[in-house]
Amino acid sequence: MKRIFSFLISLLVLGAMHAVPAQAETSPPQPPRQSNGLALTPPMGWNTWNKFGCEINETVIRQAADAMVSSGMKDAGYEYIVIDDCWQSGRDAKGQIVADAKRFPSGMAALGEYIHSRGLKFGIYSDAGKLTCGKHPGSLGHEFQDARTYASWGVDYLKYDWCSTYTQDAKSTYETMSDALRASGRPIVFSICEWGLNKPWLWGKTIGNLWRTTDDIYDHWQGKHGYEHGVMDILDLQVGLESYSGPGHWNDPDMLEVGNGKMTLEEYKSHFSLWAALAAPLMAGNDLAAMTPEIKAILTNKEVIAVDQDPLGIQARRVAKHGDFEVWARPLQGGGRAVVLLNRSSASHTVTVTWDDLHLPSSLSLKVRDLWAHKDLPNAKGSFSAEVPSHGVAMVRLE
Ligand code: GAL
Repeated sequence: MKRIFSFLISLLVLGAMHAVPAQAETSPPQPPRQSNGLALTPPMGWNTWNKFGCEINETVIRQAADAMVSSGMKDAGYEYIVIDDCWQSGRDAKGQIVADAKRFPSGMAALGEYIHSRGLKFGIYSDAGKLTCGKHPGSLGHEFQDARTYASWGVDYLKYDWCSTYTQDAKSTYETMSDALRASGRPIVFSICEWGLNKPWLWGKTIGNLWRTTDDIYDHWQGKHGYEHGVMDILDLQVGLESYSGPGHWNDPDMLEVGNGKMTLEEYKSHFSLWAALAAPLMAGNDLAAMTPEIKAILTNKEVIAVDQDPLGIQARRVAKHGDFEVWARPLQGGGRAVVLLNRSSASHTVTVTWDDLHLPSSLSLKVRDLWAHKDLPNAKGSFSAEVPSHGVAMVRLE
């Protein structure tokens, strides 16, 4: 009798266990995630990492904010001041993330207020795993709490890294933080930084506003160094990703190295021109408080920036490649084309774009505007050529 009774109980328990997944399967379908409506043109700003690494403190940040205004970068469109890794010291008893009190004695809310008082926006960094790449606390298990904390500090932009994530699923991990940011009630641009490992261009569009397409950049023209890539290596990795980018969701070939000292001015001009053609986020990564007039002139070239910020948001394609000589082009609002003629070789060379490369009739006569010389050149018919220095570019607008 006892046996029959326990057999009946087991049947009941098994039945109940079976009912759980069946119920889950019949729960109402979730509406698809919508874009958050932010970053309709590629975000522009400055980030601590490329120049300062972990050597950051509130003085460095304040000086950068001041310099962004006084240098004319703010007027040129730069807006976000982003504190990258190493600002965190730990979590308190309630699990609340705590900023390093030695480096940031005034606290993050005060720093956010300072940045806002300069008419700029405040960005911060965290990581989707337990630890950041610099071994500080990441947000895993604290996503909603951290998003609320950032919102209370006035954060406008979050870069979210991918260290120590082991077997985590990238899409659902970034979805969690995306939901947490939305739930915070503050508009926060979401920068997905998982280095292109899980093809974020395939799933990131309604989760974040930009996604890194590669491993880290370093201040170098060409060649890899561990997980770091030179500018030309990163450029090559953008081919094929063009159609995934657009208003509100950008391919991110990583931050700028312009002005960090290891490339020539010509190379920095090329780096900047190509990033603008790619509709890349323009995150300066140099010491803004100590830049030379030449570097400032590159970073604030308004005609090049206008290409980056073109409202159509169409990323340039490599439309011609003849060995070391390449043509990158993108359509612009109003029917014009931005064209970059790139010379990767070690000697100066003539580089040509034909109207055929641009799918335009060769009989067309087009106005040519030189975006570095800031002057109109004679009209061109069928093709346009320029003498381009080694590792240099010519950048024009054809209309
Ligand atoms: C890397 C990231 C860099 C920088 C660094 C900080 O993973 O790609 O841009 O954020 O972590 O530790």
